[in-house]
Amino acid sequence: MPIAETLRTADIHVAPASVRLDAVGKSFGKAGQSVDVLTNISLEVAAGEVVVLLGPSGCGKSTLLRLIAGLETATVGSVTIDGHEVTGIDTRCGVVFQEPRLFPWKSIEDNVVVGARGARSSETVAALLAAVGLSGFEKHLPRQVSGGMAQRAALARGLAGFPGVLLLDEPFAALDALTRLTMQDLLLDVAQETGATVVLVTHDIDEALHLADRIVVLGERGQGIAEIVTVDHPRPRDRSHPGLAPLRDELLARFGIHP
Ligand SMILES: Nc1ncnc2c1ncn2[C@@H]1O[C@H](COP(=O)(O)OP(=O)(O)O)[C@@H](O)[C@H]1O
Ligand SMILES: [Mg+2]
Repeated sequence: MPIAETLRTADIHVAPASVRLDAVGKSFGKAGQSVDVLTNISLEVAAGEVVVLLGPSGCGKSTLLRLIAGLETATVGSVTIDGHEVTGIDTRCGVVFQEPRLFPWKSIEDNVVVGARGARSSETVAALLAAVGLSGFEKHLPRQVSGGMAQRAALARGLAGFPGVLLLDEPFAALDALTRLTMQDLLLDVAQETGATVVLVTHDIDEALHLADRIVVLGERGQGIAEIVTVDHPRPRDRSHPGLAPLRDELLARFGIHP
């Protein structure tokens, strides 16, 4: 059964959660020699919205996600989820890191069950494992599967708790091109069916154009938000929709590539 149908049958809905950053700044290092990584970031992500962060390497994309997840604390400004300030690791968020970060001693299936936080049925876990192409590998240990498979297991784990806010840090970067497209659509299905709010980091412009309601382009480190591009096309999107071409050109130009 396709994942969308499974979720519909299971009637899984999350509490809608908006994310708000108010004049957020983050510096690392001791006073006097600290580096400002993020400055004056203000952004409101509506409940159920898909926002994609795009920006050069080292500009602070992962840091921004970590701030929302409560894994880092802002130096100045505030981060709120649904009006409540984030002060520590936030259980309203599900995080998918760039690396799988699976428990090495747990099977693939048990790693996903950990993400489900006991709240979901074994049918839902099985459906997620099937959706990420890991049926038949449930009992394998992470070291017994390929890097791409481990990353897909991490995606299933992040989705399995059906969090109100899904934070994903270049989650598909290690996957082959075709699998990447399938996983993008899986993410959209889950977000659509559960109403989750999504903040995803990528350096792939086409991925951003396929997924995002809005693309937030960050400038070089410390420069803050350079531009916000609204992708005003209904989903599911045809990847070659002519309406996306001008946006692609605009984003490429911003990164110094002229079509
Ligand atoms: N815990 C940390 N301590 C010191 N510097 C850090 C820490 N985390 C990130 N940085 C620095 O912040 C900058 C942005 O990092 P990061 O958010 O990982 O960027 P991106 O994900 O956009 O590539 C980098 O210069 C990085 O070295
Ligand atoms: Mg990063």
